[in-house]
Amino acid sequence: MVSFFYLCDRNPPVTMPATELDHNKLPRHVAIIMDGNGRWAEQRGLPRAMGHKAGVESVREIVETAGELGITAVTLYAFSTENWHRPAMEVQALMTLLRAYLESQLAPMLEKGVRLRCSGEIERLPKDIQTLLTKAIDKTAPNTGIILNLALSYGGRSELVRAAQRLAQQCLDGTIRPEAITEERFGEQLYTAGLPDPDLLIRTGGEARLSNFLLWQTSYSELYFTPIFWPDFRKEQFLAALADYQGRQRRFGKTGAQVAGD
Ligand code: IPE
Ligand code: IPE
Ligand code: MG
Repeated sequence: MVSFFYLCDRNPPVTMPATELDHNKLPRHVAIIMDGNGRWAEQRGLPRAMGHKAGVESVREIVETAGELGITAVTLYAFSTENWHRPAMEVQALMTLLRAYLESQLAPMLEKGVRLRCSGEIERLPKDIQTLLTKAIDKTAPNTGIILNLALSYGGRSELVRAAQRLAQQCLDGTIRPEAITEERFGEQLYTAGLPDPDLLIRTGGEARLSNFLLWQTSYSELYFTPIFWPDFRKEQFLAALADYQGRQRRFGKTGAQVAGD
């Protein structure tokens, strides 16, 4: 049993756990609320920005692992619409890290076949970061590997309002009739258009809330909350989350017997 393996051995050799997972039952899309950077730093008597910096290494490792496993997409909640209200110094530190990440990771993304995209109010980001993002998205677009979707200046409610506005405009223009607004059409107006809904949502840092993340898309996601702070969430912890996911029975409203009989 996969979960038994993880309970017994918290420090397995790097190559072993992936083989313990059922590769036919991997989530197609994993969404992650990367929380706990500030507390990780505070615990060490460091400034919060150092926690964010340490978190970048987790991002690199998780994207690499997910790519190696053949997971289709990973969405990372990197900065929320609410995070704009943090002290200016912290926002600035986060923007500096984002800038450095985009500058340093373009080459590795191209090498590993990663396709970058983003979700959120990108127009609120500093202009040079917008340019870096557009460049990285364009350059990685022909890749065929994992989709890395960065949620930046992202808020679920703002995304839903934006979708409603766009559909309302289409109705006014006469392109569609209100009855033609289906769940599918609505989903096409979201930042995540074309991506499967997340099968698994992971939140690190100990809180059990969504904090305005992917409100529409997570309606049937499996939720995994861990107290581990994001900078400590590495390959081993990610594989443990995947193993936990594989132990779930996803019923989508049906009975257990119906699903087992599928
Ligand atoms: C998550 O870590 C990163 C962002 C929200 C940008 P936090 O900065 O929220 O860390 P905690 O929750 O205060 O520990
Ligand atoms: C959620 O974390 C946002 C990101 C991880 C980017 P927060 O730290 O902002 O969430 P709350 O304030 O604890 O709900
Ligand atoms: Mg937090």
